[in-house]
Amino acid sequence: MRLFLDTANVEHIRHGVRLGVVTGVTTNPSLVSKEGKVDYKRLVQEICSIVPGPVSTEVLSQDVNGMVAEARELAKWAKNVVVKIPATIEGVEATHQLARENIKVNFTLCFSVNQALLAALAGAAYVSPFVGRLDDIGEYGMGLVKDIVEVYQKYPYIKTEVIAASIRHPRHCVEAAQLGAHIATVPYQVLVQMIKHPLTDVGVVRFLEDWEKVMGKGKRL
Ligand code: E4P
Repeated sequence: MRLFLDTANVEHIRHGVRLGVVTGVTTNPSLVSKEGKVDYKRLVQEICSIVPGPVSTEVLSQDVNGMVAEARELAKWAKNVVVKIPATIEGVEATHQLARENIKVNFTLCFSVNQALLAALAGAAYVSPFVGRLDDIGEYGMGLVKDIVEVYQKYPYIKTEVIAASIRHPRHCVEAAQLGAHIATVPYQVLVQMIKHPLTDVGVVRFLEDWEKVMGKGKRL
């Protein structure tokens, strides 16, 4: 499973890429607005220059023509732009048009297997089931990832990749990986939490104390 960062924060993206584990980014209007009043085009182009892989940016229009026009514009900003289109009936039509123009679509705000099936049939490159938001309303978000992965696997001609999105904690990453999601897009905080373990921290301190007891304080190689 690959890891994307779900943020529009450039410093966090730089760190994730430096770690060598982040290969893509997903943004949305809420995440961009967290960065303050920015020059959107400049921000997206900066993110695209940092990240080796796909960078998802979302359209704001809700009608087919508006979505397609925005997507065409966004796709001109950088080679690795992927356009996020919402899982609506207009979104299906826009996805189909954009796929025919070789503009990659991330079919977003996906909350059902049927939405994911239509995404695939319309030609979306990615589908993003929102796990955390389903958990928030008392449903089992990861169950949706499982169902989509299972359905897609039955039809090898489906090339749409599943991005487990709306990830809230490291356990979600484990489950997404176990279920066969192609990608998990994670908030920066979750990325940092993924490496954390108290026994690792205690172990590092103890190894150093034992070494210094014998070799002397501050003594290295
Ligand atoms: C995915 O592409 C979305 O940007 C994101 O995962 C939404 O997550 P949220 O439910 O935490 O806003």
